[in-house]
Amino acid sequence: RRPARLPGRQDWSSWPHYQAAAAGFRGYWYPVGYSSRFTGKPRQITLLGQKIVLVRDGGEVYALKDRCPHRGVPLSEGNQQFPGTISCPYHGWTFDLKTGDLKAAITDGPASPICGKVKQPTYAVEERLGMVWVFVGDGEEAPPIDEQLPEELVRNEAIVGSRIQPREGNWRFACENGYDEGHAKYLHRTALWRLFKAMPVWNETRIVQRGRWIYRVQDKQYWTADFPGLGKWDNQAWFKLKPPKEVGNVGNTGTHRETNPVIAAQEFPGFASVSMPGVLRIVYPTFIHYEFYVPVDADNHLYVGVLASFQRGWKALPFYAKYLGFVRWLFHGQFSGQDKWMVEVTDAPPEKLYRPDDSLLKWRKLAEDTSEERVERLAAQGVTVPVPES
Ligand code: FES
Repeated sequence: RRPARLPGRQDWSSWPHYQAAAAGFRGYWYPVGYSSRFTGKPRQITLLGQKIVLVRDGGEVYALKDRCPHRGVPLSEGNQQFPGTISCPYHGWTFDLKTGDLKAAITDGPASPICGKVKQPTYAVEERLGMVWVFVGDGEEAPPIDEQLPEELVRNEAIVGSRIQPREGNWRFACENGYDEGHAKYLHRTALWRLFKAMPVWNETRIVQRGRWIYRVQDKQYWTADFPGLGKWDNQAWFKLKPPKEVGNVGNTGTHRETNPVIAAQEFPGFASVSMPGVLRIVYPTFIHYEFYVPVDADNHLYVGVLASFQRGWKALPFYAKYLGFVRWLFHGQFSGQDKWMVEVTDAPPEKLYRPDDSLLKWRKLAEDTSEERVERLAAQGVTVPVPES
């Protein structure tokens, strides 16, 4: 059940790893844009505060630190003078895309002695769900990306509709907003999406952990609340035509008649779940919505919203019609725009939490524990990760 009392004023010092992760958690894969955006023309991105240049060569995308070690010019301003390489626009230092080795310093001739003595840092890159993903770590080898993606997206074929949007505000506010129990009931009360999807006025929620995900399990819902001395408040403004029924656990899609078999097979314990490094999963009976909150730097993030349907062949067509016809505009547009607004104006810490914020605390604890485990795991491999002071 809910904790009887939460600590009042929060200064985030209980979560030193979380506090130190203003520009993101290292050791994870992040989606950085649609695959079609990355071509033979070098393109700069900022991820976890780092400037990275991405370029496609021979069908593969490569990523290097976007700062020439010679005089600090961005390599993304350069081009490809030779296959498999990128050349700095200033004096022609030319780096191998795969290894980062300095292969030539063009203006010093073919026998330049500096070649072989300089190495540009590189990043692991993968392509999944029609997007390019980059791994940012502390020098460790990148783990397989499929170990980090939501399991059901790895094991099953899915068709997706997605929206990627650069947004202002810290990525942690975006993640906490996504998983925040209270905002779904209040902030989104005016969202047009709620013409189609019910949300309770208030409910009783438990947070449970299964594997690397924590879930909000909503056992009981209340559609009308009586506030003594103030009046009644309900969520039915958009539901006049079809009054909502009181239902059980919203995430218990297994009991829903139309539940897609792939979704039913997962036996998700709750409607909303979250995992590292800031991935939200919202389960509906016929599709799943994901949000990846990608840290650009401490003040900006990339919103990556993905709607996945586990259909094949001609059955994919109604999904695309539904997505492009209204879901994209109502859900990835207006509904998500309300979240964007709140993330921009949030100013914490300090903060004073209330009962529904248990979801925030559990998410921070998950982030904290997982980070601690990573530090210990990498230490055993001889990789040192700075441990934040508490
Ligand atoms: Fe890049 Fe000189 S600054 S080659």
